[in-house]
Formats: sequence, structure tokens, C-alpha cells
Amino acid sequence: MRFDARLFNPSPRALALLKGALLVVCLLPLVRLGWGAWHDSLGANPIEFITRSLGTWTLNFLLVTLTVTPLRKVTGWTWLTRLRRMLGLFAFFYVVLHLSSYLWLDQFFDWTAITKDILKRPFITAGMSAFLLLLPLAATSNKAMIRRLGGRRWQALHRSIYVIGIIAVTHYWWLVKKDVALPGVYAAILGLLLLLRLIWRYEERQKQRAGGYQASRPGRVIPIALKR
Ligand code: HEM
Repeated sequence: MRFDARLFNPSPRALALLKGALLVVCLLPLVRLGWGAWHDSLGANPIEFITRSLGTWTLNFLLVTLTVTPLRKVTGWTWLTRLRRMLGLFAFFYVVLHLSSYLWLDQFFDWTAITKDILKRPFITAGMSAFLLLLPLAATSNKAMIRRLGGRRWQALHRSIYVIGIIAVTHYWWLVKKDVALPGVYAAILGLLLLLRLIWRYEERQKQRAGGYQASRPGRVIPIALKR
């Protein structure tokens, strides 16, 4: 039995509503933290709770963003791509809050201690590297920047999301001292998402070879016969 993508193909209006609903859902973790802080219900160590919760949500949004393409391929729901940018930007939004809570609530802007931390604690070094690598992706996420860079260069730049995912999971893995079960689950999900991409890329190459076509740039193919 084949899945029929037309079963759910939202109109532009429905998609706009879906985007609005998604925006609200994406803000819920923050609302929950605000509510908890207001009602003093974030546990014995609220600062740790806030920093960790924001870190978890950064990782969740990174993985959800990476799930969009495989889900689109499996279901045929091309409109899913229209939600990807928002999800990616939420990953960035939460990492900015996560970093801010570390710099402000955890370290009180003690730059000497922060520098030492970044240089001496591998999990902080990894977190900082992931954050720095996310900066250019967030800065180039709008349509104007896609046009300015050109699709090919933009795509190449945005492929660093895979490396960011690996560093982010490593950051989590390294900070957990004993029970690595949860970072292990994140690592397995990330591994699966990356493996699927590798398999699809391999299959695409095979198809192009079999059909006498060779990719010249992503999304465009030129028959070998036409190549000089
Ligand atoms: C893409 C970037 C990042 C991701 C995905 C991420 C993710 C995470 C996750 C999942 C946790 C653990 C949450 C838990 O235990 O439930 C965490 C904790 C933490 N992260 Fe990040 N993080 C990132 C960047 C950073 C940066 C830039 C810093 C600071 C320079 C940082 C500092 C911390 C600290 C201090 C903790 C808490 C450690 C503790 O309480 O023992 N992270 N992060």
C-alpha cells in the first residue's frame, strides 16, 4: 500500500494557520519556564533547571529541523519544507537563551571564568563551537540571503547543520557523567537521520548513472551527452 500525499495537502490559508499554530507550540517550552520561575516551581536549583531545559529544547529543535526532509521524502508532503526555516530559527532562538542563561545566571558575566570554562571544559568548548557554527546559518536563513549567495553556495553552507548536530550531541554526551542513556537516544536519532540522507544520496547517484545523467549542481541535472 502506497501513501497518498494528496490526502493532506493544505491550502495556502491552511498552511498559514498551521504555521501560526506551530509558532505557538514552539514557544510553549519558554512559557513553561516563565510560568515555573514565576510560581517558584523549578526545583531546588532553578538556574540549572533553566539552563538544562533550554539546552534540551535547542537539541530537540535541531533534530526536528533535520527530520523535515526525511519526513517530506517519505510522505511526499512538499509543504513541510515551508516549516523548516521556522523550526531552524527556533533552534537558534533556544540556543541564544541557553547561552544567555549560562553567561548571565550561571557565570554572572565573569568573562575570565567563562574563557577558562570554554578552554578547559570540553563539553563547553563543544557547545560554544556548535553555537558559533549556527550563527552563519541563522544570518543567512532569509530569502534575500539565499538569492545573494546563490542556491548552490547557500546549500553548501547549510550542510554544516549535520556537523552542528554531531557536535551538539557530543556536547550533551560529554556533560553527562554517568547515565548516557538519553544522550544515547539523541545520538541514535541523529545517526538514523544522517544515515537516511547518505542512503538517499547514494541511490540518487546510482539512478543518475543508470540514466546517463550526471548532477552538475544540486537540483539540476545535465545529460552527459550535452557535457563537453
Ligand atoms: C547547538 C548548541 C547547543 C546545544 C544543542 C546544547 C544542548 C544542551 C543539552 C541537551 C544540555 C543538557 C540538558 C540536560 O541535562 O537535560 C546542555 C547543558 C548545558 N549546556 Fe548546552 N547546548 C548548546 C550550546 C551550549 C553553549 C554555547 C554553552 C555555553 C557556552 C552551553 C552550556 C551548557 C551548560 C553549562 C549546560 C548545563 C550543564 C550542567 O548543568 O551540568 N551549551 N546543553
